[in-house]
Amino acid sequence: MKAIIYEEYGPPEVLQLRNVEAPKPADDDVLIRVRAAEATKADCELRGFRFSVKWFWLPLRIALGITKPRRAILGGYFAGEVAAVGTNVAQFSVGDKLFGTAGLHMGAYGEYVVLPATLAMAEKPRNMTFAQAAAVPLGGLNALHFMRLARLTAGEKILINGAGGSIGAHAVQIARSMGAEVTAVDKAAKEPMLRRLGVDNFVDYQREDFAQAGPQYDVVFDMVPTSSYRACISVLSPGGRYLCGNPRLSVMLRALLTNRFTDKSASFAFAKETREELEALRKMIEDGKIISIVDRELPMDQASKAHRLVETEERCGAIVLLIGT
Ligand SMILES: NC(=O)c1ccc[n+]([C@@H]2O[C@H](COP(=O)([O-])OP(=O)(O)OC[C@H]3O[C@@H](n4cnc5c(N)ncnc54)[C@H](OP(=O)(O)O)[C@@H]3O)[C@@H](O)[C@H]2O)c1
Repeated sequence: MKAIIYEEYGPPEVLQLRNVEAPKPADDDVLIRVRAAEATKADCELRGFRFSVKWFWLPLRIALGITKPRRAILGGYFAGEVAAVGTNVAQFSVGDKLFGTAGLHMGAYGEYVVLPATLAMAEKPRNMTFAQAAAVPLGGLNALHFMRLARLTAGEKILINGAGGSIGAHAVQIARSMGAEVTAVDKAAKEPMLRRLGVDNFVDYQREDFAQAGPQYDVVFDMVPTSSYRACISVLSPGGRYLCGNPRLSVMLRALLTNRFTDKSASFAFAKETREELEALRKMIEDGKIISIVDRELPMDQASKAHRLVETEERCGAIVLLIGT
């Protein structure tokens, strides 16, 4: 099969299109013919071994390969068709069209990937192409996890910092569907897209400081690793909730103090990515509450270009690799 592989950590050019042996499913696995895979920030971080959260470095290096990547095929989020199932797999059948996550197994940059049937995979939304569906699980699963954690209610005000990214753009749509008033923070180039998704207010972080507005939000959802903890807490109304998707060690310690000594709360989490959440997303998509935001679809041999676009943020929406073309 054709696959994009990387045999060393480094710049986008370490990604190479090669012919490799197709994997075979064991009893509890599903073999998936991948049609599309999102090129994500996480894929870029794994490829270059450069992570925004520094305390992660050592455990990740041990897990992923000390001198070179242990798993040569990247790709954590995909859409495709079931090509074969193991003897113990009852929930999927050959020919099912799925979208989902490969988790730390990765491998969705190859024409075939073998995954445990227990991973978050669900029927592809009927109203989406494979490429559109592949752009949903990363942003959608993480956004849904955090929006549920926020316990948003209709009429509440939420500020989403980094709203134009994969997770942020899904959080905008989910928060709107929960009836919240959404203020999006990102750079000006992303404002038209975010307005289309229904944001009520927009702050261009390159020209304005959202913290100047003073306390006014019930929830702040923060996806920006470099943002100021003090600024995020300062714009919360009494009883407000701060959710951090990118916790630095200092944020975790300060969150303990905020929770103990103030009427505000701060939490950080790593989304679990469950099948139940993916099913909920599929329903929201088929009900017209969430759309997929694809900037570009690229053939496999342009994987390096895809990574460069993601790393330099020259995109408005997801970059999707069409696997097998
Ligand atoms: N906790 C979890 O479970 C979890 C799971 C997955 C990912 N993450 C982390 O969450 C982060 C976001 O993920 P993502 O996939 O949504 O990333 P992404 O697509 O790169 O989105 C980040 C967005 O933030 C914008 N941004 C950058 N600097 C900003 C600033 N100072 N103020 C406001 N916006 C700013 C970026 O725009 P420009 O750079 O173009 O300005 C981009 O639109 C990543 O760092 C990832 O590692 C956490």
